[in-house]
Amino acid sequence: MVLVLMEYVELGWSDLKISRVGLGTWQFSETWGLVDYEKAKAVVAKAIELGINFFDTAMVYGRGMSETFLGKALKELGAKRDDVVIATKIPGEFLQPEDVFKAVDRSLKRLEVSYIDLLQIHHPPTHHNFPTSKYAKALERLVVQGVVRYLGVSNYPLALIEDLRSSLSVTDIVSMQYRFNLVERWSEEELIPYAEANDLTFIPWSPLAKGALSGKYNSENIKQFTDLRKNEPVFYEENFVKVMPLVNLLIEIGKKYGKTPSQVALNWLINYSPVIVPIPGAKTPEQVAENAGAVGWKLSYEDWRTIDELSRSIKITYVTW
Ligand SMILES: NC(=O)c1ccc[n+]([C@@H]2O[C@H](COP(=O)([O-])OP(=O)(O)OC[C@H]3O[C@@H](n4cnc5c(N)ncnc54)[C@H](OP(=O)(O)O)[C@@H]3O)[C@@H](O)[C@H]2O)c1
Repeated sequence: MVLVLMEYVELGWSDLKISRVGLGTWQFSETWGLVDYEKAKAVVAKAIELGINFFDTAMVYGRGMSETFLGKALKELGAKRDDVVIATKIPGEFLQPEDVFKAVDRSLKRLEVSYIDLLQIHHPPTHHNFPTSKYAKALERLVVQGVVRYLGVSNYPLALIEDLRSSLSVTDIVSMQYRFNLVERWSEEELIPYAEANDLTFIPWSPLAKGALSGKYNSENIKQFTDLRKNEPVFYEENFVKVMPLVNLLIEIGKKYGKTPSQVALNWLINYSPVIVPIPGAKTPEQVAENAGAVGWKLSYEDWRTIDELSRSIKITYVTW
């Protein structure tokens, strides 16, 4: 039996309480391979059982499959609407003002809810040239109408966040979501400090470096990937050899605490800053339970620093051909 005492923090400057570790649900898509609804439901059920109330999805995950599975599971599991915080994302391509309403209407339908707790802009509207001030006004109307409670950004550079925030008049963003894990740390340069200074929740995506930090992969079995990890730079041989010593360190330090490498990697993240709330993706209830077990204990300062130092020395390349 897994005993997890979940901890909760506020979502940015709002009074909404979210679990210190959330659940990422991109896994409910062909991209990651979990396309059996009952299996997805079991993942969501375990999360609820362990006190995880923060669910991250997106309109593009499985072209709506992730939202559909999540909404259906929460309903069938009898989760009270007020007890869960649903975060979805609108892609940059859907930010033409009239499309914003259409996209959110469809999202509400798929999620089977009357409001979305956190609507994040998945990424800027690259290639589409929609002016920030135009789509900001449409997003804000959704907040005024009560179909969206809070707005957040994802993969936005700082200058564009400032632009967006100055285009909002009755609300503000509460969160920022970016890649951040022990191998890929560029977010700590400007973005995390900005979240800290502005009372915004920082949501690291790929907090386990897509499973690379879990301890179950080695230079042999990474060759067998048939999912998106086939093309993931972290798993390219020239990068993965640099990651392995860190994985070994996570295993070694984990033994002292009776924790797994994934739990150590996530605990390191949540101890990086109080504004950090990771959303590890999980394909099985066992993985959810393991990831929830990253909460309720703390790496010592010495161990946190040892991991920090080794992690900092790893420089992976994204030039892969
Ligand atoms: N905003 C964005 O642009 C963006 C981008 C990417 C992701 N996200 C969000 O962030 C979430 C998490 O990121 P991610 O899915 O890319 O990567 P991740 O959370 O770093 O890794 C998830 C994968 O690691 C493996 N795993 C998870 N827990 C494990 C455990 N305890 N033990 C062993 N293996 C474990 C699983 O795959 P295997 O079992 O197959 O190894 C799982 O699919 C996504 O679900 C999504 O909601 C957002």
